[in-house]
Amino acid sequence: MDWREQCRERVVTAEEAVAAISSGDRVVVSLGSGEPTILVDAMVANAEKYRDVEIVHMVPVRDSGYLRPEMAPHFRLNSFFAGAATRAAIAEGRADFTPVFFSKVPRLFRESMKVDVALVHLSMPDAHGYCSFGVSVDYTKSAADHARIVIAQVNPQMPRTLGNAIHVSEIDYIVESDVPLIEVLPAPIGAVELAIGAHCASLVRDGDTLQLGIGAIPDAVLTCLKDRKDLGVHSEMLSDGLVALIEAGVITNRCKTINAKKSIGTFVMGTRALYDWVDNNPSCEIKPVDYVNDPVVIAQNDNLVSINSCIQVDLQGQVVSGTVGLYQLSGVGGQVDFVRGAGMSKGGRTIMAMPSTAKKGTVSKVVALIDEGASVTTSREDVDYIVTEFGVAQLRGKTLRDRARALIAIAHPDFRADLAAEFQRRFGEEWTAPTGAVSAD
Ligand code: COA
Repeated sequence: MDWREQCRERVVTAEEAVAAISSGDRVVVSLGSGEPTILVDAMVANAEKYRDVEIVHMVPVRDSGYLRPEMAPHFRLNSFFAGAATRAAIAEGRADFTPVFFSKVPRLFRESMKVDVALVHLSMPDAHGYCSFGVSVDYTKSAADHARIVIAQVNPQMPRTLGNAIHVSEIDYIVESDVPLIEVLPAPIGAVELAIGAHCASLVRDGDTLQLGIGAIPDAVLTCLKDRKDLGVHSEMLSDGLVALIEAGVITNRCKTINAKKSIGTFVMGTRALYDWVDNNPSCEIKPVDYVNDPVVIAQNDNLVSINSCIQVDLQGQVVSGTVGLYQLSGVGGQVDFVRGAGMSKGGRTIMAMPSTAKKGTVSKVVALIDEGASVTTSREDVDYIVTEFGVAQLRGKTLRDRARALIAIAHPDFRADLAAEFQRRFGEEWTAPTGAVSAD
């Protein structure tokens, strides 16, 4: 049958489509800017018809409705990541949290977590009947591959990203919509972020391939790289900041040892300008997360530099990125995937970059001991550099004594005396700042 005919047969209204969801189902929703808003809104409007629907939705970036307290009998979120929209519900016990590396989510869907319904957001079909997963390929393609029922919001405003596809014959219900994608504006960059960005940039060499996390610090790093040459991108997220460097000719992907001349990501989040840039653009590919975040794939990029942020670092170099004590603030995301990949990459480096304090300067992020209940995200063996606005602490190859010495030097001066007293207790000698500037070796 011609794909156009298959398409016509599958087109329904959003209300008709979500009627296919049953009580007790597990429903997986595309993440971030790829959320199929029309479908989620219809599901929430239909709430009275369901009980105990489990929603798997990593990183919602709007109020998607299903987390409101009155929705509790109908929906329960099972999240792999906490964010502004989900932290309170997780802390109050109205939502659950499942720890998992981002790269392993597709494997969960394949082997451990049966997917009943996938709610996905797609581009229009091409001449052969293939839609693109657009800005959210990540786990979404795997959810669609394994779901009993695939419901797609098909939207002309969804860019056609290359490196992924689904044929209309693989979709059960198609809901046509012409609505804007969710836009996420870049976080404001202040003096602290700029100082951190400059220190991180000092560790990046011409020809390196970059992975950058999300937020003001990665954006600040990018603004400090304008004089580098032939950088490459193999990152979880493609952002407006990366595109600015691509257009400036700084990122060429020419030196990449895998996927040469292409920027690689697993999702895209930013402004409409970014979504227009990735549309049908052969210079970038958006691929499933079990490829992009696979440490073995990442490691095939020589000189892979991973730059991520964290919540707390102790004097041994243990990195906490997902929790404040037992409070789930975010999650591992792809941090460890990239840390491990960079650790195996020839010439690779792992950098953790963070402001020296949190809570308006009242809390040090460099600590003697991590908070009780906190989970270590990145081990002390895996980190090469910790960066704050006060400088770079090189940890690779350093003894516990020398790493503590270096970390205290990049803590906020208000907290150094307490940390120095701990140094004296632990190592039986007075703390003195290490000598000499630290640079990429
Ligand atoms: N103690 C108490 N609260 C702390 C804290 C600490 N040590 N460190 C941070 N916080 C609080 C901040 O005060 C802020 O709270 P607020 O929202 O009430 O102001 C909140 O945590 C977020 O901190 P902020 O510094 O603004 O976060 P960010 O946007 O720069 O993100 C991480 C930092 C660690 C949360 C984020 O990088 C992350 O989730 N990392 C793990 C996953 C990852 O690395 N993904 C990328 C891989 S590709």
